[in-house]
Amino acid sequence: MKIGIIGTGYVGLPTGVGLAEMGHTVICVDKDESKIKELQASRPTLYEDGLNDLFIKNCHEGKLSFTSSMKEGVSEANVVIIAVGTPSKYQSEAPDLQFLYQAADEIAVYLRDYTVIAIKSTVPVGTGDKIERRIAQIAPQCDYDVVSLPEFLREGFAMHDFLHPDRIVVGTESKRARNVIRRMYEPLLKETKILEVARRSSEVIKYAANAFLAVKIHYINEIADFCEKVGAEISEVTMGMGSDPRIGSRFLCPGPGYGGSCFPKDTKALVYMAEKANADMSLVRVTIEGNEQRSTTMAKKILQEVKDVSRPKIAILGLAFKGGTDDCRESPAIKVVSQLLNEDVIVQVYDPKAMINARKLLGERVEYAKDAYEAMTGADVTAILTEWSEFANIDWGKAAHLVHRKIVVDCRNIIHIQDIKQKGYKLRRIGGKD
Ligand code: UGA
Repeated sequence: MKIGIIGTGYVGLPTGVGLAEMGHTVICVDKDESKIKELQASRPTLYEDGLNDLFIKNCHEGKLSFTSSMKEGVSEANVVIIAVGTPSKYQSEAPDLQFLYQAADEIAVYLRDYTVIAIKSTVPVGTGDKIERRIAQIAPQCDYDVVSLPEFLREGFAMHDFLHPDRIVVGTESKRARNVIRRMYEPLLKETKILEVARRSSEVIKYAANAFLAVKIHYINEIADFCEKVGAEISEVTMGMGSDPRIGSRFLCPGPGYGGSCFPKDTKALVYMAEKANADMSLVRVTIEGNEQRSTTMAKKILQEVKDVSRPKIAILGLAFKGGTDDCRESPAIKVVSQLLNEDVIVQVYDPKAMINARKLLGERVEYAKDAYEAMTGADVTAILTEWSEFANIDWGKAAHLVHRKIVVDCRNIIHIQDIKQKGYKLRRIGGKD
């Protein structure tokens, strides 16, 4: 099949690579010409585990190409997938749909034969109806269906999640469109269920799933804080809880709060939509508020360890919003660093992949190290804020000769407790007995 993808961000690009790998001919469209130039030169514009090799392979096989021309992306396509950003509006909880509407209006101009327009961007309920009406106004003679096709891939695991999804949700009342989408996903259907639902239900599924996971994280963070106060151990508690299949063991890792481009924005959008619909969404609202407090709690935890030092040096390991990605959007690590910088401290930072993106947010207010050991040199306290496996494998014996004080605050609970304690460190964790 021929597939056009509009938007080459963290959803669009892995989707394009994945569909090409499945055997389709994919053209990815982006307005940003400098990005398109990079992609045309076979250089991926973002970091995702496993993406690079598949990207290069499919470019070389001619199944994956890039253009800034909407016409090229749309006119031959059987399916056009919209994967543009839907960030929160400035100082508002409402999602900003301007990029989506622009894309839809342009697509309408170049539609030829029957085309399925699939919305992969996370959009408020009823957006599919609006897009359908806009296209009908611009191209009344065209034959098309608008489908909601939410994406559930996680950054850092995007290629794996795309090629081995838990489920594929297709929201449309059109049988013809369902058949087209079924054909598109054919290679995955041996191992994955396709769930065909109404378009509005599909739009809700995406928000409901993300908000549920955000609530789960906030809940486990509260339980972790409770454990700390009453002398219980969170890893034992989550083991006991997670063994109940009704709860499940995933997404029970306490930490510095959820971040990224999805949970913060989608929880806020859900609350906003519920308000407009006059429905109660207080559980999600409390989650948002609790999560926003989390970076302050983490910053205090770190500063507590250096309260007796004047102008302490703080080593920060991890800046991405989670491991496996270079993405720093809404990163708890960036928020914690920003809070620390309100005090009279020196901050030395390191992240294996996110240094370029972090610099855009933190500027020259921190010192950038070339590796974890350089970041820890002279440090009065070291804090781990992103769960990169290289931090779990730090040689604490080697680090002991570099740090000023052997104190580690592990905000991701990834350090082997016995190992570091044997080397004489003081270790503070989340929800641990310490
Ligand atoms: C999330 C969803 O997991 C995907 O299913 C969805 O497709 C995606 O949003 C989206 O809407 O596009 P993502 O934002 O990539 O994916 O990241 P997650 O792995 O879900 O992590 C989100 C945040 O929660 C991170 O800051 C992570 O560190 C934190 N987290 C996650 C925890 O603090 N504890 C956990 O147990 C799990």
